[in-house]
Amino acid sequence: MSLNTVRHDYKIAKADREKIHKHKSFLLWFTGLSGSGKSTLANLVEVELNKQNISTYTLDGDNIRQGINKDLTFAPEDRTENIRRIAEIANLFVDAGVVTLAAFVSPYIKDRENIKKIVGAENFIEIYVNTSLEECERRDVKGLYKKARAGEIKNMTGISAPYEAPTNPDLEIKTDDQSIEASTKQIVDFIVEKLNTSYE
Ligand code: ADX
Repeated sequence: MSLNTVRHDYKIAKADREKIHKHKSFLLWFTGLSGSGKSTLANLVEVELNKQNISTYTLDGDNIRQGINKDLTFAPEDRTENIRRIAEIANLFVDAGVVTLAAFVSPYIKDRENIKKIVGAENFIEIYVNTSLEECERRDVKGLYKKARAGEIKNMTGISAPYEAPTNPDLEIKTDDQSIEASTKQIVDFIVEKLNTSYE
């Protein structure tokens, strides 16, 4: 629904804000199983970018679900709505000239395709944090896998709900095989050119 609204065009656009920030802005979308390391990696990448005077903001599933999205469950339609809202929020941050990081399980391909539509393909970088279910379950940082195996949590991604892995991500991080430092470097190296920090 968008009843009787007419879009108002403002004079200042993304490019004007990027000039002030002195770099390009875009969305780094981390997808992967719960416990795969998305938030940890987003956090470390943001620290590196901060050192380079890059304006950043991170949106994180666990945090967002305690605030703006606290009305949503883990049923498929609510996950779709969760991701749609985050994509709209991320779009505003990117438009504001901020490099935006988002760490969400986002298990459905169609929902991730929708993010790309909302923010524009040119602003969307999909990072697949590919950690095996066995490894996530071994780590079980939040104890959720144990609860899911015991039937105490419904719709647990990887156990009782699907995870549709990206078929063609911009970056794939295999955390089973490499250190967290190497994974962080892999991401920072990938985006450094895209930031275009010499931007005038
Ligand atoms: S998403 O599927 O809608 O993208 P989101 O990233 O917001 O999920 O939230 C995932 C986080 O919620 C997980 O990291 C985990 O801590 C918690 N969680 C609680 N229940 C579930 C569940 N059934 N499936 C996946 N994650 C869950």
